[in-house]
Order: sequence, then C-alpha cells, then structure tokens
Amino acid sequence: MISVTIDGPAGSGKSTISKIISKKLGFVHLDTGALYRAVACFIKKSNIDFENENDVKKCLKDINLKIKKVGNEQRILLNEKDLKNELRSLDITKIASKIAAYQSVRDYLLNFQRDFAKFQNVVMDGRDIGTVVLPQASVKIFITASPEVRAKRRLEQILKNGENFDYLEILDSIKKRDYEDTHRKIAPLKKADDAILIDNSDMNLSQSVESILSIIKEKVDNI
Ligand code: CDP
Repeated sequence: MISVTIDGPAGSGKSTISKIISKKLGFVHLDTGALYRAVACFIKKSNIDFENENDVKKCLKDINLKIKKVGNEQRILLNEKDLKNELRSLDITKIASKIAAYQSVRDYLLNFQRDFAKFQNVVMDGRDIGTVVLPQASVKIFITASPEVRAKRRLEQILKNGENFDYLEILDSIKKRDYEDTHRKIAPLKKADDAILIDNSDMNLSQSVESILSIIKEKVDNI
C-alpha cells in the first residue's frame, strides 16, 4: 500500500493539508492528533488525573476507538460516540499534549495507526508518523512555519469555533508545545532523515497543497 506521512508542529497546517491531499489522491486520511485528543476526552470525562501516568495507563483498556467515514470526512468514535468539535477545545489540547508523552498511551495508539495503513492507501499526519509509526512510508513530508504564523492561523481557527483568545497567549502556548513536543523522551517531534522539509510560512493553503502534491507525484509512479 502507499502511505504518505505528514509530520510537523502545531499550526503548521498538517491536518487541513492532509485532508485536501488525501481527497485529491483518493487516499484515506488519518489525523493521528485526533486520536490523542480522543484519549484526552475520555480522561476528562472520567475525571482521571491526567498528570498521573499510572491512572491514565489503567483507563486505556476502557477506551474503544473507531474511525467512521461520514462523506469524505473521518470521524472518531470514542466508545461508539462521535466526538465532533469537542476534540479541539483548549483544555483537551492541553491534556492531549501531556498524555502524548506517556509510553503507555503511545503504545496503545501505535498498533491502531499501523493497522490503519495496512490495507489501504493513506495520508497520515502527526508528529512521529515518518519516524516511528510508518518508517517505511512511500513519501515523508515535514511541514513547518514560524511560530508567529502558526499562532495567527490557530487564532483564526479558534475564532471560527466561536471561542476567543489573545494572540500572545496562543503564541506562548504554541512555543511551549513546540518545546514539549520536541524535547519529550518518547517519539519527539522530529523530521525523519528521509523526509522532505517544507516551510510554508509564506505559502497560502493551495500553494502548500500543490508543493506537497508535486513531491508525491515525483516519488510515486502512476499516481
Ligand atoms: O492540531 P495540533 O497540531 O494543535 O495538535 P494535534 O496534531 O491535534 O495533536 C494534539 C497533541 O497530540 C499534540 O500536543 C502532540 O503532542 C500529540 N501528538 C503526538 O504526540 N503524536 C502524534 N502523532 C500526533 C499528535
């Protein structure tokens, strides 16, 4: 099967870009960040102390994740319930970032992600897809942009969702998350040696999509 991995930091546009690219190629898209967010939702709903790795580890057996296709969209079902927009709230973001550093959580999600790419062509986006989850992927992309540009994009997204936040607060949280994601011991955010780096600070969405599509077409025959 063909797999395209798109890794990068918060606000680099990975998920939006991956969604468009997968549609254009007729591949299935998996936003792996949403899996970490779904686990975070369960932890929040169950009032589990997310700072306590042991408590988090114990609750994993009660989590059943499924991907459901609704039109062209992939929706995540947590114990059969569609999570919709709650995945993107700021407190879920904070919990997801914390629990993503736990080995038990990463192990739990690793097989889920690998199985997903076994029998279908995929575009998978995340932090460690090219390095850990699918090291044999056909094409690996690492996208990034300056923290300021990413904070601006994130603010626009938040405003669209009806929430309101201060730009500087978001910039600060992006920088903190960059630090946590790149410095954690397990599966840190890192460009795979064979990934192609794209800095899209000065690109709009369609330019980002086109540049990645042309890389994929160059690397994979008959696509
Ligand atoms: O959209 P955004 O980049 O803000 O976050 P996300 O991709 O939805 O990821 C949520 C959290 O899960 C991040 O803080 C990452 O640390 C973590 N994550 C991860 O560790 N590994 C992945 N493959 C995907 C996300």
